[in-house]
Amino acid sequence: MKTYIIPANAVPPAVQIRNAAPRDAARIATLAGQLGYSTDASTVANQLQTFAEHADHVVLVAVTPPEERIIAWVHAATCPLVHAAGFAEVHALVVDESCRGRGLGRLLMQHAENWAQGRGCSMIRLRSNVLRDRAHEFYEKLGYTQFKTQKAFRKTLPERPE
Ligand SMILES: CC(C)(COP(=O)(O)OP(=O)(O)OC[C@H]1O[C@@H](n2cnc3c(N)ncnc32)[C@H](O)[C@@H]1OP(=O)(O)O)[C@@H](O)C(=O)NCCC(=O)NCCS
Repeated sequence: MKTYIIPANAVPPAVQIRNAAPRDAARIATLAGQLGYSTDASTVANQLQTFAEHADHVVLVAVTPPEERIIAWVHAATCPLVHAAGFAEVHALVVDESCRGRGLGRLLMQHAENWAQGRGCSMIRLRSNVLRDRAHEFYEKLGYTQFKTQKAFRKTLPERPE
């Protein structure tokens, strides 16, 4: 596995990027909290298990060797369409509060982009809450451009009888 050296005086000084594994669930859940999504290890473990059976999803973690502490993660997936060529979408990205501004977000996005290219995608997209001004600046630094504004709708569905 390749080791990436992050900027001088950075703590930690090196990271590795790998696919998430079930043992990562608790730490992924903790960092999801920093993203604003309250969840738990069991939910994350179940989702990772589901994704493991579907090549159209990837969850990558940035870990610090040798302890393998997870300090950032990204989830991306392909979005096939019937009316146009499909694309990949980044569903979530978070860097531990104590490790921001050291290039980890950029590194994980590069890996997500490489993964998307490997899945045959010529475009990668993401949606970001209008309140996340700082993240928007980050994405623009990485070459992303805003192309539309949407409203999000949802509906809770009743449980289906067995
Ligand atoms: C947004 C986030 C993922 C960025 O990760 P990061 O590791 O801190 O960013 P990087 O260090 O890789 O920064 C890459 C570039 O973006 C710039 N950047 C990062 N955060 C920025 C900010 N808040 N404002 C302006 N530029 C920013 C950096 O200066 C850097 O530019 P450079 O290479 O020219 O120096 C991280 O701050 C985070 O996890 N935020 C909370 C969760 C979140 O908002 N996730 C996105 C949800 S849509």
